[in-house]
Amino acid sequence: MSWDHGYFSSTSYTSGVYRELAPAWLDFAVLLNGHAPQRGQEGEPFAYLELGSGMGLGLCLLAAAYPEGEFTGIDFQPDHIVHSRRLAKRLGLNNITFQEADFLNLAADPGPLAAAHHYVVAHGIATWITAPIQQAMLQLASRALTPGGIFYCSYNTYPGWLGASAYQHLGELTRQRQGDAKAAQAYQQAAASLTSLLGSEEAPSALAISQPELRGRLAQIPNQSSAYLLQEYANEGWQPLYVADMHQRCAAAKLRFHASATLPENFLDFLPANVRPLVQAETDPSLRQSLQDLAINQSFRRDLFLRGIAPYTNHELRQRLAGIMVRLQEAPSTNTYSFMTSFGQVSGAPEPYARVESCLAQGPRSFGQLLGDTGLKLAELGQILALLLHGGRIGLDRSGSIDVERARYVNEQLLELILSGRSYAHVLAPASGNTVELSLVEALLLQGQRLQLSTNELEQHLLKGLTALGRSINGEPAALLAAFRERLPHLEALGILP
Ligand SMILES: C[S@@+](CC[C@H](N)C(=O)[O-])C[C@H]1O[C@@H](n2cnc3c(N)ncnc32)[C@H](O)[C@@H]1O
Repeated sequence: MSWDHGYFSSTSYTSGVYRELAPAWLDFAVLLNGHAPQRGQEGEPFAYLELGSGMGLGLCLLAAAYPEGEFTGIDFQPDHIVHSRRLAKRLGLNNITFQEADFLNLAADPGPLAAAHHYVVAHGIATWITAPIQQAMLQLASRALTPGGIFYCSYNTYPGWLGASAYQHLGELTRQRQGDAKAAQAYQQAAASLTSLLGSEEAPSALAISQPELRGRLAQIPNQSSAYLLQEYANEGWQPLYVADMHQRCAAAKLRFHASATLPENFLDFLPANVRPLVQAETDPSLRQSLQDLAINQSFRRDLFLRGIAPYTNHELRQRLAGIMVRLQEAPSTNTYSFMTSFGQVSGAPEPYARVESCLAQGPRSFGQLLGDTGLKLAELGQILALLLHGGRIGLDRSGSIDVERARYVNEQLLELILSGRSYAHVLAPASGNTVELSLVEALLLQGQRLQLSTNELEQHLLKGLTALGRSINGEPAALLAAFRERLPHLEALGILP
């Protein structure tokens, strides 16, 4: 067996960034379910480990947002580590280390990583590695956590991936026939073949009838980057899991399921009414999660496990929640509050949401202040904030703990990198300890605005910039400019721009 244990290591991965990995977000999710996170409050020092840190952009942005944290990224692909280290240096970060290492070796001997971390995260790893490597990864996660620490693990699940597993299977067979040099073409070819096997919309084949979502998934394949496609599907160990199986494997490594970082999933009240009674009536936690996933055709989970739970009393929980600060993030005015979740569309009665947002329009507020100002009950406010966070309308506020100069320096560097054609699409939102998306189009418009270009000149600047990088424009320049101008005040309020 080669050094990669069947993991597809011939190309590098994409530079994704995931808001659920932020320490403040992880703490909020476990708090909602009554666990006392180890950080007593924002600003306390902590240690954070990412397993399989890929291109390192996400971890670098967290290190920039949380100067009081020590961050370590582990990955066994040397290309990923070289890229990550160069990026950390460019962003001027001194609280982050990237280590080229294999989970298998580290699980046996974690050395200084042992019992040292408040957070261990593994985003997009568990589904893509073979069973022995997965076992080593879970052992390492567990050994690297201090008791009471949080382990974030995301993975593809059944039943949502049942249809797509047919595509993965055909892609793998086609790749084996064509060889790794043509792997990306093999997965495109498999998508085209399988699409023909689905028949037409009017005369669908038996497969299309039994897997109605497969057609939509296959239609997306031609638009997906080769880097994503290969690292998603071309791994020998590719294996979505039913939730109960994953929870059992984690439990064997002393990691107990506690909550979901996909915040709405912590509230069974949001489940569709026709399946809710059955799920709610189930008292066994593992069986309840299984029923929930079957009911919603779950395809991806972001689970939080604890190495030892520290439950709050109701009084302690109320006190701790009272101190959590939130702020408006990108909340355009609306009179409907409808959120797309993995449970389907969840709509709240608009009035209490509007009450919360109008309090926040005056500035960041604590959970405790919001309870007083809105008159809402604790559980009700928890649900509302979870949905507003999920919808990106609010963020957890860290304006008391940020280093503004450092954050702006980081964002200036990121802007330059985006403008030079790096496929990054996020910048730091220091006030919320998290990130927001910033597309190449927006970066070009921002650059043009700083040059004080007129509207006409801005549109020309955008077109020229995209052409210079070999990119095409997706929309009318005037419409893109109007959308950018609408977004600008939100970006300014988050402290993203000087
Ligand atoms: C699908 S990528 C996810 C990367 C990143 N977490 C993200 O979501 O953007 C999986 C990562 O795990 C790393 N990896 C796979 N097997 C590994 C092992 N045995 N030891 C260390 N890293 C491994 C790969 O190199 C790759 O960067």
